[in-house]
Formats: sequence, structure tokens, C-alpha cells
Amino acid sequence: MSGKHVAKNQPSSFEFSNENKIKIDEILKKYPDSKKKSAVMPLLYIAQRQNNNWIPLAAIQLIADMLETAYIKVYEVATFYTMYNLAPVGKYFVQVCTTTPCMIRGSGKVVEMCKKHIHEKQGHVNKELDSSWIEVECLGACVNAPMVQINEDYYEDLNAEKAEKIFNSFKEGTLPKIGSQSGRRGSEPIQNRTTLLNKNA
Ligand code: FES
Repeated sequence: MSGKHVAKNQPSSFEFSNENKIKIDEILKKYPDSKKKSAVMPLLYIAQRQNNNWIPLAAIQLIADMLETAYIKVYEVATFYTMYNLAPVGKYFVQVCTTTPCMIRGSGKVVEMCKKHIHEKQGHVNKELDSSWIEVECLGACVNAPMVQINEDYYEDLNAEKAEKIFNSFKEGTLPKIGSQSGRRGSEPIQNRTTLLNKNA
């Protein structure tokens, strides 16, 4: 993704924790030595998890050194995928899907609620709520559109009111149950009809 927000304030160095060094050794064993640069994505992910959900440029350099590849090769992967953050995000990091199925089902209202409750601009941290939001492409839960991802979890079947309720819950630090917010299980039909058993469904 071009134009990704890169933090201006960068730490001068980055080291993986001992625990993560062990994880990385295990990952690298999966690749022949000459192809170890293929491990770039899991290593970026580990760096992000270790560093409060964002990847400093020093980590990109370290990963490039570890994989014996060019800095730009790691940087271009980190800037292409929205799953990698190159600037600090909130403790509650909201990714709003605005691809066509979610858009048709009202993701515009969810974006409005992000602007109202989190920050007028995406990629900016609301310090009071310790939260931030960005727009992303399809997250693969179109059957329960519109939806958002908050940190690692999906919240589906949203509308303005339900999104507002979730964002307000940041204040109490108690997020609603993950998954559908309309009460349906998984992606079963909205009116509880079971298409295999009900001929009229
Ligand atoms: S379009 Fe939003 S999850 Fe697929």
C-alpha cells in the first residue's frame, strides 16, 4: 500500500527478545538457507507483536540483515500489506473493511462512527481511548458484512449503533463478545431459516 504512515520518532535500535529468537530459529528451519528471505512475513509479524503492534525501521533493518537480503526488499513487503503497522497504533486498533460487500451493507456508517468516536483521521491515535482506526480491503468475512477487526478479533453484522456501542466500550476496557453483533451464529441465515430443511427458505 503506497503512502503508508511511517512513524517520525523511531527507536535507534531493535532487538528480538530471547523468546522470539527461539521462534525465529524454528521458522528459519522451514526454509533452505538459500531461500531464507521467504521468511520475511512471519519475522515482520513477530517484530510487530513484540513492539506494541507496530514495526520500527530498525526492526526492518535487523530482519534484512538476518535474512541476508536488501533493506528495501523487507521495507516493500512491510509497506504493501495493511497488516503491518509502521507507526504506533492504539491498544484498540480498529481495521474497518470498506470493500464492496461491506460498503453495500453500510460500512460508510461504521467509518462515520470511527471518525466520531476514535479520530477524525485514520492512522491517528486517540490518546484518551488508546485507540486508532484504518480502512482496509476485504477481511474475508463478507457474509457477515459490514465488519471490523479489532486487534486479532472480528466484530460482524454491524450498523452505526452497534459500532458506536463497541467503540464506547473502549472506555471501560470490556469489549463485547466477538463475532456477529446481531445475535446470529456464524453466518446462518438472518431469519433463522435452515435452507437444507425448510423448503420455503
Ligand atoms: S468485503 Fe468486507 S469482509 Fe469482505
